[in-house]
Amino acid sequence: MIPRKKIIAGNWKMNKTQAEARVLVEDLLRDVGRFDAAEIVLCPPFTALAAVSELLSAETNIRLGAQNLNEHASGAYTGEISAAMLKELYVRYVIIGHSERRQYYKEDNATVNRKTKAALAAEIKPIVCIGETLPEREGNTWKKVLETQLTEGLAGFAEAEVHDIVLAYEPVWAIGTGKTATPAQAEEAHQFIRTHLGKLVSPAAAERVRIQYGGSVKPENARELLNQPNIDGALVGGASLDARGFTSIIKNACAS
Ligand code: PGA
Repeated sequence: MIPRKKIIAGNWKMNKTQAEARVLVEDLLRDVGRFDAAEIVLCPPFTALAAVSELLSAETNIRLGAQNLNEHASGAYTGEISAAMLKELYVRYVIIGHSERRQYYKEDNATVNRKTKAALAAEIKPIVCIGETLPEREGNTWKKVLETQLTEGLAGFAEAEVHDIVLAYEPVWAIGTGKTATPAQAEEAHQFIRTHLGKLVSPAAAERVRIQYGGSVKPENARELLNQPNIDGALVGGASLDARGFTSIIKNACAS
């Protein structure tokens, strides 16, 4: 079995001007710029991508990610950004189907599928987010929800394409709420996702795909969550906006 390298991504959401982004990235370059035990990805807002890209062009293991992309190659889509535009800025990863996009911008599994296709075509690795809401968790339908998100979101992809996809399990009830899934709850969901992926794509792909956990990841809970056998990284929102916090998440997550 190929060991899955951990991947810790910071989703800055709609935070940080270019000037603020530069300060944060300079601090991170100093603290974890050469860190090699995990892949580190920063996902600034579109307006700060160029500035962050320039700073990351120096020798570093930190990679650049975007928070969204449009599924079309070009054309009359006011306000949208294409995969080629991201590629030009050396974007290596893109978050797709985050629950905030699903909730506020009505993105569904079909949208996620098209965006994932566009990212893969441009050789940008998609971080595909899935996760259930609180009523779905409490109503015990969460497995069905995850199954549908995976089946529809990843429909039609070849095994080799799936190898380039990172999944992020983000229970909606844990995002920005301070309420984290317990390591056991998260591990159960990750295991379920991996098993379903095995049926959907292939057992080999299921073994290989990295599954991040996201939802109120903090320096204090990162180690225990990331020590679970099926948790291969974290997608960090609020706590990635501060260099010291994000650095300790990265270091704690990789200490066994
Ligand atoms: P949070 O956000 O860490 O602030 O809960 C995670 C995410 O939405 O990706």
